[in-house]
Amino acid sequence: MSSASEPKSAEAENQDGGPSVVREYYFIVNSISILVIIVCSYILLKRRFAKPTGMSSEPQLPKMRKDMTIEELRKYDGTQPDGRVLVAVNGWIFDATRGRRFYGPGGPYATFGGRDASRGLATFSVTSTDDKYDDLSDLNSIQMDSVKEWEAQFREKYDLVGRLLKPGEEPTNYDDSEFEDTLTESSNSSMDKKDN
Ligand code: HEM
Repeated sequence: MSSASEPKSAEAENQDGGPSVVREYYFIVNSISILVIIVCSYILLKRRFAKPTGMSSEPQLPKMRKDMTIEELRKYDGTQPDGRVLVAVNGWIFDATRGRRFYGPGGPYATFGGRDASRGLATFSVTSTDDKYDDLSDLNSIQMDSVKEWEAQFREKYDLVGRLLKPGEEPTNYDDSEFEDTLTESSNSSMDKKDN
């Protein structure tokens, strides 16, 4: 006979739906997350190296350097005359105009254009996101790892525009000389940004 204070056996935990089920759930979610990132990254890299340089038909827009609120970001969904598409991931805004076919109107990830894609990327959801600032504080560590992975992918592929501003936060006044320094400094610490 076992007393109430005795630890449960693994079998008992399995039977009452205890921690092993939770562990299995996280294992499955983690595996799917890693798989989607690997598949998407592989295809993207394959395409990038297969494509001859200088053949891009995407519009060449002047480089943009600006911190924005979620409301300001909203208008860069590719529907403006210049077709610029910005996407925010983990508090950073990227110029994804080169990826218009993904994030522009009619693209498979159009709901990320002009938006903060972090939550959608973390939860494998391409349905429309909330228009309010999202601090992502309720995401679990696996989902946050996924967000950071995506941020790294975006840094590889797209130009960094600036920070996604929290409500009440002041934008940085970028000038040409200080811009690169600021972004380099910020990017060094950005991977831990949402850990606080
Ligand atoms: C079975 C499911 C999925 C398949 C087969 C798939 C397939 C692909 C393919 C083929 C690409 C590259 C497209 C190209 O180079 O033309 C891609 C890129 C991408 N996928 Fe997926 N995907 C899937 C699920 C998802 C999900 C659930 C998300 C996030 C919610 C997602 C987000 C992305 C993103 C952000 C890119 C990168 C676009 C860029 O280069 O900026 N994918 N995916």
